[in-house]
Amino acid sequence: MSVIDDILSEKDPEKIRKETETNYREYLNPFVLRMFKNAGLDIIEGRREGASVWDVTGDKYIDCVTGAGIFNVGRHNREITDALKKALDVYDMGGWISIIRERGLLAKKLAEITPGNLKYSLFCCGGGEAVEVAVKLARGHTGKTEIICMENGYHGVTGFALPATGREVYKKPFAPLAPGYTHVTFNDINAVKAAITKDTAAVLLEPVQGEGGIRPADDSYLSGLRKLCTDNEILLIFDEVQTGFGRTGKMFCAEHSGVVPDIMVLAKSMSGGLYPISCAVFTEEISDFLIAHPFIIINSFGGTSLACLVALATIEFIEKNNLPERAAKMGKRFMEGLSSLKITYGELVVDVRGKGLMLGIEFPEESIGPRMASLLKKNGVISIYTFNNPRIIRIMPSLVITEEEVDFVVEAFEKSLKEIRAQESERKSKKG
Ligand SMILES: Cc1ncc(COP(=O)(O)O)c(C=O)c1O
Repeated sequence: MSVIDDILSEKDPEKIRKETETNYREYLNPFVLRMFKNAGLDIIEGRREGASVWDVTGDKYIDCVTGAGIFNVGRHNREITDALKKALDVYDMGGWISIIRERGLLAKKLAEITPGNLKYSLFCCGGGEAVEVAVKLARGHTGKTEIICMENGYHGVTGFALPATGREVYKKPFAPLAPGYTHVTFNDINAVKAAITKDTAAVLLEPVQGEGGIRPADDSYLSGLRKLCTDNEILLIFDEVQTGFGRTGKMFCAEHSGVVPDIMVLAKSMSGGLYPISCAVFTEEISDFLIAHPFIIINSFGGTSLACLVALATIEFIEKNNLPERAAKMGKRFMEGLSSLKITYGELVVDVRGKGLMLGIEFPEESIGPRMASLLKKNGVISIYTFNNPRIIRIMPSLVITEEEVDFVVEAFEKSLKEIRAQESERKSKKG
């Protein structure tokens, strides 16, 4: 029996749980295991399909985490899995130091589907790496150094991306970081105006802050930024790692405002949840920097044959199934259900917000987020608070979620809120 047969044939959930927890404790990261338990996310993923994931015990959950937007096309999408299997029959990954047909085809497709004059693509594996490429392009093209980023923004934890992330806890232990990053209040055009200097190369932001608490930028703010950047010869970079590929009800979130950035960063769901890939897509104007610096990113595994074929199959699936439209429709259904919970549970729900299927519920205090996540799990839904703001629970299911599944999630929220209300009143009566 091969190691793969051995692993896949094991069906005893208790054995799997024990072995996995031991391996995490002994060989991975014991603290992350504890964090998952505290966050109500201690399932061990077994079967995955559509909007659902099953614990190895066989318990089914609607997945509202989806790795913060990796699985737009659904968990273990069969069509894309078949595409990858076909590709594997013909290809290996392809060499990095060679010319790859599929890479060109994917870049062409991205030029077609991304807004405005975005045209060239540079591929990597993860979102953070693609943010780094965007920063390098901005500095390289403008010859300037400063990057204006947003408080509570999240752009990953790698070299040039970490300083852009707007939360000290991720950065402090690793100082000194790459210099030249300034953070300003999100959604405040005057804050950006005040931060601009003669050295400003770019403004970098997420059009909906994900880890910052599912906070959409106003359309007027984005168009104000566009004008400000153009007037001052500064590049505008949208990090669409979470918002891209249909998540917010349009193929790309930029389309809601009609604002075209100079560089767009894409990752997560571009992978079809099957094969890592990310990219920075940018305008022809910026590409002048590549003439002298064609190797601004050297990356053995960025944009391999297999990754590009999977990304092409993923885009085809999203287009064929009108997933952006579906995200808008299902998002509206969620909004209606959750807004009525806000009325019933006014003392517990401060706000319900988001775009398409990138939604967040805000609670009045931090302890409620993790408690809600545990209760939701009990009620058949996995969800997690946003990393920069634990008062907000995110709802980011696969875009293939059905109406019945949306209603199931809303019901799970209702049951969980009811329990929190009961716990709170018990706590108060004990205190009193
Ligand atoms: C908006 C945004 N940008 C960048 C990243 C970093 O992506 P990765 O974890 O693939 O490096 C993330 C990850 O969650 C993200 O949400």
